[in-house]
Amino acid sequence: MCGIVGYVGSKKATPILIDGLLCLEYRGYDSAGIATIEKDVIKVMKDKGRVNNLYNLDGINDLEGTVGIAHTRWATHGKPSKENSHPHLDNSNTFAVVHNGIIENYSELKDFLSLKRYNFISQTDTEVIPNLIHYHYTNGPESVIEDNYERFLTAVKSAVQDLKGSYAVEVISPLCPDEVIVVRKDSPLVIGKGTDGNYIASDIPAILKYTKDFYLLDDNEFAVVTADKVKFYDNSLTEHNKAIKNIEWDANAAGKDGYEDYMLKEIFEQPTAIRETIGSRFRLGEKCSFDDIEISKEYLSKVNKIYIVACGTAMHAGLTGKTLIEKLCKIPTVVDIASEFRYRDPLIDENTLCIYISQSGETADTIAALKLAKSKGAKTLAISNVIGSSITREADYSIYTHAGPEIAVASTKAYTSQVVLIAILAMYFAEILGTCDEACIEELKADLIDLPSKVEQILDNTDVIKTFANKVYTEKDMFFLGRGTDYNVALEGSLKLKEITYIHSEANAAGELKHGPIALIENGVTVIGIITDEKLVEKSISNIQEVVTRGAKTLIITNQILPNSHFDYVINIPKTPPLISPILSVVPMQLLSYYIAKAKGLDVDKPRNLAKSVTVE
Ligand code: AGP
Repeated sequence: MCGIVGYVGSKKATPILIDGLLCLEYRGYDSAGIATIEKDVIKVMKDKGRVNNLYNLDGINDLEGTVGIAHTRWATHGKPSKENSHPHLDNSNTFAVVHNGIIENYSELKDFLSLKRYNFISQTDTEVIPNLIHYHYTNGPESVIEDNYERFLTAVKSAVQDLKGSYAVEVISPLCPDEVIVVRKDSPLVIGKGTDGNYIASDIPAILKYTKDFYLLDDNEFAVVTADKVKFYDNSLTEHNKAIKNIEWDANAAGKDGYEDYMLKEIFEQPTAIRETIGSRFRLGEKCSFDDIEISKEYLSKVNKIYIVACGTAMHAGLTGKTLIEKLCKIPTVVDIASEFRYRDPLIDENTLCIYISQSGETADTIAALKLAKSKGAKTLAISNVIGSSITREADYSIYTHAGPEIAVASTKAYTSQVVLIAILAMYFAEILGTCDEACIEELKADLIDLPSKVEQILDNTDVIKTFANKVYTEKDMFFLGRGTDYNVALEGSLKLKEITYIHSEANAAGELKHGPIALIENGVTVIGIITDEKLVEKSISNIQEVVTRGAKTLIITNQILPNSHFDYVINIPKTPPLISPILSVVPMQLLSYYIAKAKGLDVDKPRNLAKSVTVE
């Protein structure tokens, strides 16, 4: 949540900063701002509203500075307003700060600083940071240091030592006009090494067009970024070297590539994302390969329980993961929501394997849930889409989906890639453990290889989905029904609909309907049924028939030949085993939500109240 950009180099900073913020708007979009060093002073331009509003601010084009910091906000402390927007200045206008995260002890710090006669303009937690830096710079032991640069860095370090909570922070000051100081703890921050300067961002896509060489800042690590150098320091300010990581993402992958919205582009990128995620993990007739994690048979044989922990869409991918692991590996698997898992004292020991799924790799609750499992002696495995993200750096083992940057807030290609990767992981475990018939695994491999072309078939036939979307877009409630993995994917379909269309929706296990939710079914209500398991066709049809009888309007997504029925619309999808059918059946539901949101004239990529990575608890 909240996006950060920074630049130090030979070019004018403002266009780079605004351009970077535009790429990061998915992290937060209720206000935006930039600060640059103009000769001897800091100039701050900020306001509530979208990043594009910055172009309308008086004097923005006159900024000539080549050192600057920028921020797009998702409000936590204080409503969206100009005062609460970042960057924030200290009372003497000497230090400008942008911050991502939450300062938990900000009111204590505010009280302390107020006693020292500091005033506060905003309701944010962030505003304590520049004032604390000023306090340490002028009053702390560092105030006697003669070298401005050393004094500035020491003051930032002292201020950060006072903070509790999570933060990625950038600081600039005209006292040291050619540098940006950055530091992070539990909030992402990367530094891109460019040829005409150095770049800083909370997410790689913001600066991918300038460089593919990145330093991934660690927790409690400081960096001093100048035009031609980046120096790294630990939390006692001892300097150290850091290796550069080359990120393979294509810069165009972070653009819209002619599509109207990122979400639509990402839905259509699913065949490629699935192909790339399969990559060279297996070939027909050969065993799956996960050289990057090397889990031994000795260890795996001792694992008697697996937890899959995640949030939102990633958790829904985990539900299908559970079915796959239990079926192929015969290890009991529990799926948990990260924010619940971490507070309910889960039963974990060294024979538990905990798998964490996170597209961004930065979700606060998922990271905390991972740390908890580690502290209880369990091994942890992260599945993420972002190389070097926090979760992958914490976990014992990390594997990656190859979905490319996902920008739309509503996750699509990350979900299908996650399910594909867990399917391969489950096959890999089963091959190590010998828990599943080889022929069965071979068949599943062939089915996985066929998935991209089957997704393409669905994407080639969107007419029924569009027609249905145009019929139902004014509705207030919708219901999704399914059994088995169809129920798992119904949950994801329902979440997608809520997120971007603001239509209330529920997903129910079809068999549970009669235990309560059927009371909500009345004439004309829309029900979406998913039927992809041959063994469950009859049962599912009977359940859906129960809502038809009560006047529901029905859309069925199926790969089965259904007997003559009273369903209003049927979307036929290609056949694939129920174990992996969510990878196909989710696609019409993603498109349905998309077309409904478009019919309602909503901003598909930036739905209200949401942000792409949820880095607050
Ligand atoms: C998906 O459409 C949502 N935006 C949300 O549920 C998301 O999946 C969740 O916040 C988890 O994010 P992560 O995968 O980056 O951890």
